[in-house]
Amino acid sequence: MNEGSINHRNIILVGFMGTGKSSVGRKVASILRLNFIDMDEEIEKREKRSIPEIFGCFGESYFRQCERNLVKELAGRSSLVISAGGGVVLRKENIEDFSKSGLVICLDASIETIVKRIGSDKTRPLLAVDDKVSKIKELMSKRKAYYDMIKLHINTDNKSVDEVAEEVIRLYREYKYNINIIKG
Ligand code: S3P
Repeated sequence: MNEGSINHRNIILVGFMGTGKSSVGRKVASILRLNFIDMDEEIEKREKRSIPEIFGCFGESYFRQCERNLVKELAGRSSLVISAGGGVVLRKENIEDFSKSGLVICLDASIETIVKRIGSDKTRPLLAVDDKVSKIKELMSKRKAYYDMIKLHINTDNKSVDEVAEEVIRLYREYKYNINIIKG
């Protein structure tokens, strides 16, 4: 492998909950014939517990450590499309490792779209509150700076999974060689 392609082994989708990372990632992987990994599903499989159970039994910091360990492992692999959990950006080293292993793309969506997509979903412990809209706004504003560190963004408002997947593939082909995904 030449140096130019080192950064291009994987495609990693990050972004807030409800931005479509899993559906889009699955689609991209099937079109490009790459292996798809949903980090939350992988953690659930390994821990033999659902995400709400992991948060409930061991707390968020334990989950973040599971996430960190999995990032390290996946960053060493190739030919993957990875859908990361919305909080993966909270640890700088996760984004550093991912950026060395592939093309990192952040999917964005407005609060309205996120609320519409997440609806009454019960699988996200951080949103298990009465006032989901306020919680989403609060988390979004706390995380904005982290998501903003990613260079490549795709807005997913009013777009189908197929449309977003097409944009991901276009970026993947465009950025075939090295790119600094962390701004600055
Ligand atoms: C989280 C997002 C979830 C999951 C966990 C925490 C977050 O993943 O990892 O509930 O902190 O934003 P999705 O973004 O796939 O919903």
